[in-house]
Amino acid sequence: MVNINALLFDLDGVLVSTETNHYLAWKAIAQELGVPFTEHDNESLKGISRADSLKKILGKGGLTISNEEFDRLMTKKNNYYLASIAEINQSKLLPGVKELLILAKERRIKMAVGSSSKNAKFILEKLNIQQYFDAVIDGNDVQIPKPNPEVFLKGASALNSLPIECIVFEDAQSGVEAALAGNFNVIGVGNPALKNVVTHYLNDLTEFSIDNYAQLIRN
Ligand code: BG6
Ligand code: MG
Repeated sequence: MVNINALLFDLDGVLVSTETNHYLAWKAIAQELGVPFTEHDNESLKGISRADSLKKILGKGGLTISNEEFDRLMTKKNNYYLASIAEINQSKLLPGVKELLILAKERRIKMAVGSSSKNAKFILEKLNIQQYFDAVIDGNDVQIPKPNPEVFLKGASALNSLPIECIVFEDAQSGVEAALAGNFNVIGVGNPALKNVVTHYLNDLTEFSIDNYAQLIRN
């Protein structure tokens, strides 16, 4: 029997409610480009890097732009995003997060964040939850973003765990693909679009029981 000894969390949409902030910032950029952009379109941007997100929007509009313009739009999007989360605090933590972090820490279960965001460490500090994590791997630490498994493989390695000893919590299709590609156990959280993609789905982390977790994954 494999012993689950570590929890790996995606950040946006799993620990903290920031996905709407990302969506609205991209919507403003898409508007500037004259590309229609809906919440449905945004679904395929969840979990992927900033550059890959802009490429998808450009692709949707059939647009080609210079490298300078590309960089300008990435910076602009990030400025919109950062302005919208300037006041972020623990009230934006998703249900069950704080309780799970406290309990897992008490039980000495290793924990890491595996996020595509280059703002992850900044946000964790703003939320004042960075102390719960033994490692934080984010968009600055990987060569190949999700759906490549690199971010989670680096997280597992930092925790000295094997992928099969870890549970990855993800709200995005790209993140689920990354976890599965890395041979991790994965639980989809808080995104009904994942219900058909994952074996284990939770509406939020209040539904996760540490006492049942090994069982949950084996079944
Ligand atoms: C992911 C989000 O966590 O990070 C995406 O799900 C976001 O929506 C991506 O685009 C990159 O984030 P950032 O903060 O580096 O622009
Ligand atoms: Mg996410």
